[in-house]
Amino acid sequence: MANVIVVGAQFGDEGKAKVTDLLAKNADVVVRYQGGNNAGHTVVVDGETYKFHLIPSGILYKGTVCILGPGMVIDPKALISELAALKDRGMDTSCLKVSAVAHVTMPYHLALDAAEEDNRGGKKIGTTRRGIGPTYADKCDRIGIRIEDLLDADALRAKLDWLVPKKNIMLERIYNLPPQDADEIFKEYIEIGKKIAGYVCDTSAIIFQAVRDRKNILFEGAQGTLLDLDHGSYPYVTSSSPTAGGACTGAGVGPTIIDRVIGVSKAYQTRVGEGPFPTEQFAEIGEKLRQTGTPWAEVGVTTGRPRRCGWFDAVVGRYAVRINGLDCLAVTKLDVLDEFEEIKICVAYKDLKTGEIYNDLPSMAGVFWRMEPIYETFTGWMKPTSGCRSYSELPERARRYLDFISELLECPVAIVSVGPKRDQTIVIEDPIHGPKRVLSHSSASSAAHLS
Ligand code: GDP
Ligand code: IMO
Ligand code: MG
Repeated sequence: MANVIVVGAQFGDEGKAKVTDLLAKNADVVVRYQGGNNAGHTVVVDGETYKFHLIPSGILYKGTVCILGPGMVIDPKALISELAALKDRGMDTSCLKVSAVAHVTMPYHLALDAAEEDNRGGKKIGTTRRGIGPTYADKCDRIGIRIEDLLDADALRAKLDWLVPKKNIMLERIYNLPPQDADEIFKEYIEIGKKIAGYVCDTSAIIFQAVRDRKNILFEGAQGTLLDLDHGSYPYVTSSSPTAGGACTGAGVGPTIIDRVIGVSKAYQTRVGEGPFPTEQFAEIGEKLRQTGTPWAEVGVTTGRPRRCGWFDAVVGRYAVRINGLDCLAVTKLDVLDEFEEIKICVAYKDLKTGEIYNDLPSMAGVFWRMEPIYETFTGWMKPTSGCRSYSELPERARRYLDFISELLECPVAIVSVGPKRDQTIVIEDPIHGPKRVLSHSSASSAAHLS
């Protein structure tokens, strides 16, 4: 029995779904604990590509219980179409469970997300426009509609009669947009409630029972550490808690049941949307990173936007180890670096204004923008890695690259991914049953690498 959290250790799209899919083979329950259909999770199995937005990737294993947890925000129309697409492909979705207390993304959330983005001037966040921020805002404001409300006509009616006029004031008076109709929304969403009613339950009770039964539970993070509302590059973040702590609150479990936390990082780094990205590459290198790794270039799964690309940032990596308490790392997309003659890793930052050296991520948002990366440069391995299935088969320079990442982050690399397919994976050490990472008493700072 082991309960494991998988989190993104960068800015999202690290390849979490591929790693979750690998680990889900031995999981009885897979839980999404935060976010909504802003996520785009790709899994490639037997030549078939699956793109998930709300449903945990564990659904590909027959009989695995898949949970949309209390911490999620759920657009029920998106859920219904994702379910229909899976059923069309012959997948069994009967093991899906949806938390009754998860919040619902409503039509006014979608309109407001887009309107707020369009009116932020130079301060755009670059959201996915899936209504995520406004849905979480209503939840915090304690005026949100929860999944349970879609199953209760009186409750839904009362909430909409009060909420829609309030939202219309914003839509009409602030954004000059057409008002929404409470009656129409009520009729549509009460029908939607009937369609999903069979999946709705107290998911935290199911997880607790699974814990008692010594089952294996996998918590699938969406987004990434630097997109965390509290710990990310605020305000260029999402509105939930993708980090490991969020798994406990978002799923409704205590931290004492968690056995392992696995962080997923690309061998380089990408970001979609706005916000600081010190190692971003704009010209030839950025384009090469974006276009390699076919059949999918670096393009957002949810929005189709090109991802910003850059070198691996060990400052971000060390921060992810700290904030999530990572036991080990899964490094994905190593194959994308196969044809780079020179590869860089950012080992520290220099403050462009003060000249100060930062080994840790600056906690103040304004300062993060001023960070200039200090790089160590590697000679590339210039050999294909996508056919390698063991650490020893990897080119020596690729092994050195991975070892350096592990050293800089003070965290072992347990899994290396060398292609999108399930079998294009190297397991260096068992990420779940291998030795638990022990923090060194006085950490040898990465400054050592600078001297
Ligand atoms: P997630 O949101 O973290 O689950 O990641 P995404 O699915 O948004 O993006 C990761 C992309 O990289 C997907 O298209 C995956 O199929 C692909 N991928 C995952 N691992 C590898 C790998 O090792 N090599 C290559 N070339 N592609 C990979
Ligand atoms: P997965 O789970 C990458 C980014 C958006 C934007 C910011 C806020 O596939 O890794 P939001 O719509 O959440 O209010 O947007 O967060 N973002 C993601 N970037 N991967 C994701 O999910 C993301 N989900 C949101 O681009 O910058
Ligand atoms: Mg993604």
